[in-house]
Amino acid sequence: MASEVSAPREYGLGKTERRDSWWVGPLATALGFGAFILYSTFRDIYNDDYVSFEGRAGWGELLSPFYSPLPPESIRGLLPIWFSPAFLILWAPGGFRLTCYYYRKAYYRAYFLDPPACAVGESRSKYRGETRLFLFQNLHRYFLYFALMFLVLLSIDVVRACVFESKDGGMTFGVSVGSLVLLANVTLLSMYTFSCHSLRHLVGGNIDCFSCVAFRKGRYKLWKGTSFLNKNHMLWAWVSLFMVGFADFYVWMVASGTIPEMPDELKELIEK
Ligand code: FES
Repeated sequence: MASEVSAPREYGLGKTERRDSWWVGPLATALGFGAFILYSTFRDIYNDDYVSFEGRAGWGELLSPFYSPLPPESIRGLLPIWFSPAFLILWAPGGFRLTCYYYRKAYYRAYFLDPPACAVGESRSKYRGETRLFLFQNLHRYFLYFALMFLVLLSIDVVRACVFESKDGGMTFGVSVGSLVLLANVTLLSMYTFSCHSLRHLVGGNIDCFSCVAFRKGRYKLWKGTSFLNKNHMLWAWVSLFMVGFADFYVWMVASGTIPEMPDELKELIEK
């Protein structure tokens, strides 16, 4: 006669036999991610100081990544005063982060305590997966396509930041602190995007044998590259998140005149 064996398992939110500081990770995620969401929301609504040196001789134009690509003035002029151009843009990078496989794990733990950590009790005993409202998580691959386009647009911003307009109307190529900040931003965002699980699957996950498909060598190398970066996807996720916030903050400070792009003495020294 078959007997029913039930594992002695205790459910209940926060119940665990773990003795380590398992709560540090979810707490740090809640604070870090929460701080970024608050800051980026504030800056989107702020709707000012997102571009510096626009049309001004001497420097390349610095555009905040939260407002890139900036719609032309003719379109911005049609928007109601309360409608920030960032609202037209941020759904794409925001959706990419929100549906990221790593961030899902992180914020399910930090905000929904579902579960709070490995081997720590949760309030529900049943996993429902990506159903109902969370079905949108399956759109991650499509957000990836937009994220790849944004890398191109942000790279163009770096080039624009390096094109200095002189007082006589000529153009020169130069490097400023702002252009280096924007370059660091697009580099770290590239590391995050190229380490994406969906991208790795796209280049190599749906084939059994690389030597049997077209572009075998190139595809194999791409897959190796994405696999290498993928090992540190969590790291790229956090450093790129910090950098995109910092890049916006730097542009804000320069555009508002709070800090100079470069001290005048240093600029004169370089120009001599
Ligand atoms: S899985 Fe994290 S960006 Fe795709």
